[in-house]
Amino acid sequence: MAITIKSAREIELMKESCRLLAIVHKELEEAIKPGMTTMDIDIMGDKLIRKLGCVPNFKNYQGYPASICTSVNNEVVHGIPNKQRVLKEGDIISLDAGLIYKGYHSDAARTHGVGKISAEAQKLIEVTRQSFFEGVKMAKAGGHLHDISNAIDAYVSKFGYGIVRDLIGHGIGTSLHEAPEIPNFAQKRKGPKLAAGMTLAVEPMINMGRADVEWLDDGWTVVTADGSLSAHYENTILITDGEPEILTLY
Ligand code: MF3
Ligand code: CO
Repeated sequence: MAITIKSAREIELMKESCRLLAIVHKELEEAIKPGMTTMDIDIMGDKLIRKLGCVPNFKNYQGYPASICTSVNNEVVHGIPNKQRVLKEGDIISLDAGLIYKGYHSDAARTHGVGKISAEAQKLIEVTRQSFFEGVKMAKAGGHLHDISNAIDAYVSKFGYGIVRDLIGHGIGTSLHEAPEIPNFAQKRKGPKLAAGMTLAVEPMINMGRADVEWLDDGWTVVTADGSLSAHYENTILITDGEPEILTLY
């Protein structure tokens, strides 16, 4: 599949989809506290997305049973909300959410601390976030896709963390997952040329220990193979002729 270039009208719809998703993420971040369950987060996120007049794009995606992915501590991504899973002080939780507005998808993820967390966990979250921004500095028309991948890798590698290789970022638009695939680790090839009007979900997933991951028997939850903590940071971005625009910031 070719990488789609969005028209001016489509860009407006993508921007609105992403603006609404940022509202959802902000409210979820503010709600997180010890004692709540991951199911509470899903219920809240699902209600909010629908109240905004949108549809959660993860719900029933290839059978995924919830609207918000909730991944705690050693869970990397795609954790399934559970009313038995109670958050406690010191946990970290990655929230991945997306929605559809007038046919246009948005996708973003954040990792938050629950109450007070360790300095090591805070650093992992911060480095993961910054790796996104290091990558996005390279997201310019005329440059190449893998400039983004290489910049993320160069930054994260300084810290000795494991960059997840089995899951990657993606183009986004009228589908949640469009071309191109966007690895978060260094590439030999340059990848496709970036052009104004491309919308991309750039999403580094970084493990405190080794890069290897495993899937739980639920078929969804991805965990670190060594049990170490993992963080995720994702935004939907727009390539322009100037600086890239980060559409899901709040
Ligand atoms: N943001 C996730 C991704 O890009 C979406 C997961 S789909 C779900 O892969 F079904 F797991 F929710
Ligand atoms: Co994504």
